Amino acid sequence: SSRPIFRPTVFPNGTIQRLPHTIIIGVRKGGTRALLEMLNLHPEVRAAESEIHFFDWEGNYEKGLQWYSRQMPLSYPHQTTVEKTPAYFTSHKVPERIYHMNQTIRLLLILRDPTERVISDYTQVLFNRMQKHKPFQSVEQLLIRDGQINVDYKAINRSLYYIHMQNWLKYFPLSQIHIVDGDKLIRDPFPEMEKVEKFLRLSPRINRSNFYFNKTKGFYCLRDGGRERCLHESKGRTHPQVDSAVLDKLHGFFNEPNRKFFHLLGRTFDWH
Ligand code: A3P
Repeated sequence: SSRPIFRPTVFPNGTIQRLPHTIIIGVRKGGTRALLEMLNLHPEVRAAESEIHFFDWEGNYEKGLQWYSRQMPLSYPHQTTVEKTPAYFTSHKVPERIYHMNQTIRLLLILRDPTERVISDYTQVLFNRMQKHKPFQSVEQLLIRDGQINVDYKAINRSLYYIHMQNWLKYFPLSQIHIVDGDKLIRDPFPEMEKVEKFLRLSPRINRSNFYFNKTKGFYCLRDGGRERCLHESKGRTHPQVDSAVLDKLHGFFNEPNRKFFHLLGRTFDWH
């Protein structure tokens, strides 16, 4: 085989840096940060802090697997390492590249109602543009073109889950891709995290008491030992009010793609 010989970096205290055992591949605005932080509550999990963008950014991919492993957290041999890069799910070359690294890897994908995801995506870009004092368009202006849903708007494309999923299924069976219900993770994180533990064959160490609802934030926050913390303020933003006719159009637009996606999976989600 043409694969390079690969050695993990070993440190004196016995920790090592090695390739991830699992990757959170997306979707952007699905709740990827929440999932990573919640998984990191598990004592046998070590998560990379930042988004690595190894498989989707050419400049990083060219640096090779040794570089990739050096971006990973320090871990003991029995621990499970994880990284999250939400852009992987919608990047065409990524499934094949991950397959070449490890064809038996377990992948995590967190999804939300596609309409909600579009509005969340819009809100993130809006915030970034406002911070940089750049001009911005209303969500209605971006969503509608010539009276129809504008399929060239990137946020729409990213919510066409079946298109991206087909590309992953060329390389990985469904049994290797666990889908976390992002809407359920918002409402009640614990049951979703129990399923993730099972999928990753981790001992059941995450508890209901690791989560408490914070009324001020309006979301669940994490309790880790004595420490309580919520996600960053950029997670759980207030969304703009969308014109109800446009919102109806958007819901209608996603009916057919959602149906195709459910057919691919052999399961449904309670989306609009
Ligand atoms: P909004 O900010 O639009 O509400 P990502 O980390 O992939 O960018 O996803 C961000 C989304 O995670 C947020 O989108 C929010 O709805 C969701 N989320 C899920 N659980 C959360 C939690 N416990 N705290 C904050 N946001 C959470």
